[in-house]
Amino acid sequence: MGSRAWWWLLPPALIILSGCAAETNLLRPRGPAAAEIATLWWFMFWIGLAIYILVIVLALIAAARGSRRRASDLPPRLNERMFVIVGGITMPLVVLLATLIFTVITGRAVVAREGTAALQIEVIGYQFWWEVRYPQQGFTTANEIHIPVGEPVEFKIRSADVIHSLWVPELHGKLDLMPHADHFITMEASEPGVYRGLCAEFCGVQHAHMYFLVIAQPRNEWEAWVAQQQQPAVEPATATTQRGLDIYFRTGCANCHAIRGVTESAITGAVGPDLTHLASRRTLGSGMVENVRGNLTQWVVNPHSIKSGVKMPAALLEPNDLEALIDYLESLE
Ligand code: CUA
Repeated sequence: MGSRAWWWLLPPALIILSGCAAETNLLRPRGPAAAEIATLWWFMFWIGLAIYILVIVLALIAAARGSRRRASDLPPRLNERMFVIVGGITMPLVVLLATLIFTVITGRAVVAREGTAALQIEVIGYQFWWEVRYPQQGFTTANEIHIPVGEPVEFKIRSADVIHSLWVPELHGKLDLMPHADHFITMEASEPGVYRGLCAEFCGVQHAHMYFLVIAQPRNEWEAWVAQQQQPAVEPATATTQRGLDIYFRTGCANCHAIRGVTESAITGAVGPDLTHLASRRTLGSGMVENVRGNLTQWVVNPHSIKSGVKMPAALLEPNDLEALIDYLESLE
């Protein structure tokens, strides 16, 4: 024992710290499903902590007693058979059964809202970004999901390539996106806010950088956002943005990125995010960097410097052409 006895504090300290530091925090639930999950987490935490302390205390008693016994040759004070029956069989049974029951109750509560949502959003996972479709409202966007606060929203999710997993820790547990099957998850935000989502299933080199945002807003704000997203892209208003649009076609951007009102006839299928309202989004590269001019330029010129392994190739452009393209992309409010 002695001064090295601090080690037993390490596991609970790590558990406590791991819940506090992150931007996303499943112990700060902002939706009914996440609240159920957080309650279960705390139940398991306190049970685990109590057992941990009990075991450490017994180990310390045993260590202290062991050395005394050698000295005086005392008979054992403990009924060893009872100790095994209570500590080795009864207690684990009770604890595991209680945890099982609590888990089943939580699981039922979490799925209780399935099928109650009026609004459905489709999310398709790609290496390494998220396509977001609003089929009822008739538009597509990427990496940013707006929902009305206080209403259940059904997410219909699938993958375009490998298995991903959709996770917004403050709103719900995680659910896998499969390549050949739709999965459904009903999320609800009880408070307005911006909630960070992430991919929770290893899917390739940029798995850890596959973020998205869920923005929960009051219904009137959400409706205004929808009305704006439903608009086709703005027409180029200046000679420079018109030139930017020409470069967008000439450089091959249009082969992968759709712009509604511009590329319907040219596009064969979505490979990269829809850019119709790119300038209205907060981040670039699926949550990698803030959507500002400097980052947008860097992303176009060398996306791999921001997100190594991304499928978008670098665009080799003359400075004037690059400026015009960025002007055009920035006009896509
Ligand atoms: Cu997508 Cu991990």
